[in-house]
Amino acid sequence: MGILEVKDVGKRFGGLQALGDVNLSVAENSVHAIIGPNGAGKSTLLNCLVGKLIPDTGSVMFDGQSVLGRSPHEINQMGISRVFQTPEIFGDLSVMENMMIPCFASRDGSFRLHALENMMNEKDIVEKAEAMLEDMNMIDKRHMHADSMSRGDKRRMEIGMCLAQEPRLLLLDEPTAGMARADTNNTIDLLKQISDERDITIAIIEHDMHVVFSLAQRITVLAQGTPLVEDTPENIKGHPKVREAYLGETQVA
Ligand SMILES: Nc1ncnc2c1ncn2[C@@H]1O[C@H](COP(=O)(O)OP(=O)(O)O)[C@@H](O)[C@H]1O
Ligand SMILES: [Mg+2]
Repeated sequence: MGILEVKDVGKRFGGLQALGDVNLSVAENSVHAIIGPNGAGKSTLLNCLVGKLIPDTGSVMFDGQSVLGRSPHEINQMGISRVFQTPEIFGDLSVMENMMIPCFASRDGSFRLHALENMMNEKDIVEKAEAMLEDMNMIDKRHMHADSMSRGDKRRMEIGMCLAQEPRLLLLDEPTAGMARADTNNTIDLLKQISDERDITIAIIEHDMHVVFSLAQRITVLAQGTPLVEDTPENIKGHPKVREAYLGETQVA
């Protein structure tokens, strides 16, 4: 039994079957990658895991509890944090202010509206946010406007904001998309460090096979809403079904 168990999940958008019969088991403390061509249903699947979408059929269990019908906030409270495909940060706030928000939210388990000036007076929140920025190697950038950072730094900050919530399952949707190679390599190192040092399970949707093969212990290949193969990276490389799924794309050479 994995910490995350997806059983027979289906999702339609009008006439389009975005997810067919998806079964997925993610082992605790592993890194599990979900790959597949554009439009395969990867983001839809992720949205079903975090309460953004409710599947038409099937079940999604996290640590023995169903996530279906719960709000994104409740799912967050269960220990699931996610980084979406488009960075979700407050661009007009500083790096430090962004980092303080999840630190505050995780402290008492409920996100209350709270003026940032008041948060600034709460020593434990400031200390936690600073510690997270240290962990992310971003403490020097604490006063920068979040919007003025590079794509790689924004991603790193977002990952840090997720970790501040102390999740047991971290979901990442194409974390290295649009990044320069150096930033991608830094992100790989950061995610390796996170998975080595923390009690955490990571499910990552990723297009860049260098990232996938550097991090994942298991890989699920999704095509047209259905898992084609699930296997180790060694077995996935050169798998005929994987080549077939990527026909016309060049990611799996
Ligand atoms: N909200 C939506 N409404 C209608 N169609 C959607 C919606 N979200 C995704 N789709 C469609 O579902 C399919 C799967 O999309 P998506 O999960 O985003 O794929 P991927 O992340 O693998 O690229 C695509 O054909 C996409 O156009
Ligand atoms: Mg997507």
